Amino acid sequence: MSTGHPELVAAIASEVIASGPIPFARFMELALYHPQLGYYMRSSEPVAERIGWKGDFYTSSDVHPILGHALAKQAEQMDRLLGQPTPFTLVEMGPGKGLLAGHILSTCQRDYPALFHRLHYILIDRSPAMREAQRIHLAPWLQRPDLITWVDDLASIPPHSLTGLCLSNELIDSFPVHRIQLTAHGLEELWVDYRDGRFVECHKPLSSDRLAAHLRHIGSDWTEGYRTEVNLQAVDWMTQMAQRLARGFVLTIDYGHTAQDLYSIDRKRGTFLCYRHHAVHENPFLHVGEQDMTAHVDFSSLATAGEEQGLQTTGFTNQMSFLMGLGIEQMLTGLSQDSPELTAAIQLLKPNGMGTTFKVLVQHKAVPNPKLDGLQYQPFFRSALTTQSAA
Ligand SMILES: C[S@@+](CC[C@H](N)C(=O)[O-])C[C@H]1O[C@@H](n2cnc3c(N)ncnc32)[C@H](O)[C@@H]1O
Repeated sequence: MSTGHPELVAAIASEVIASGPIPFARFMELALYHPQLGYYMRSSEPVAERIGWKGDFYTSSDVHPILGHALAKQAEQMDRLLGQPTPFTLVEMGPGKGLLAGHILSTCQRDYPALFHRLHYILIDRSPAMREAQRIHLAPWLQRPDLITWVDDLASIPPHSLTGLCLSNELIDSFPVHRIQLTAHGLEELWVDYRDGRFVECHKPLSSDRLAAHLRHIGSDWTEGYRTEVNLQAVDWMTQMAQRLARGFVLTIDYGHTAQDLYSIDRKRGTFLCYRHHAVHENPFLHVGEQDMTAHVDFSSLATAGEEQGLQTTGFTNQMSFLMGLGIEQMLTGLSQDSPELTAAIQLLKPNGMGTTFKVLVQHKAVPNPKLDGLQYQPFFRSALTTQSAA
């Protein structure tokens, strides 16, 4: 079995040898986002091909454009609720290959010309290789100079400057996570050491007071051996995103749960997984830099972090209910029962698959009591989302 990309393995190993064991979150940061060698960052390989049927994993936009059609429809309703501002800014973070952006732009151009003429689409992706793929994929829309811009990060956008929608799909699950285990010594963190030419995990005290505070808020009835993950970068991301918004919405799609579900006693092994060539396993120390790593998202801490920055939680639902609320049935009329297109679209709705594993959180700022079609059906108790708070 391969340890992974040789230069990346050497770079991480030399950091461990120099400074001693590193928290797992640091290992994951380097494996995925080492500036030159990380899984998402290497410019010497066709990195964009990692996402899709020939790659390691696929996302909703690889399956069918219907999510983009539905999001364009939802954006159009948000635009009306905001009084049709000029521009209506749509910020998409972590757009990957840019497929979803393409689906949203083409739907707006065809069905919502009034919005399309005022639309400013901002893309933010930390991977230069992905940005390159986006430029190629979105070439048809680059003729209109004010339509699409790329910025390096959220910090490049002035606070309270955006009116519109901040969107992400499968961004947060790719942020590095702290991995926690309840041992005989109490809550400990998984750190990564390098011994005899291999990465190995060891248990050590929590790496920061902030992590300890976050875990105190989660609190739980866990038993010895319980493992889980904490995504502090998600909290920082939501804080920064909320601060950029003057008026409008934040819409976050990802696989995840309320904190109550994610940290329940039944989920003893956590949700951390690695993806390579569409096979799933739990060993981050194989194929380092040649496989994706993810963990499910704690939507409660996102909702709470947003509330602390002046966002209100508009609603929380799953992808199936979101798409049904936006009229996916009508969007699919005309497709024959056994067409591959219909089969693909239905995959996004499956009650025991993508339809329910994927959740949609919508938050708003300075929009009085918005009622959104995508949130017509919410199969959750609202109180369950925010019983815990972010540190
Ligand atoms: C799992 S892919 C999702 C791609 C796309 N949204 C989709 O649905 O196909 C995650 C993307 O987020 C980007 N990313 C990860 N962390 C980021 C950050 N902090 N800021 C901007 N982009 C980030 C990665 O480079 C990658 O393109």
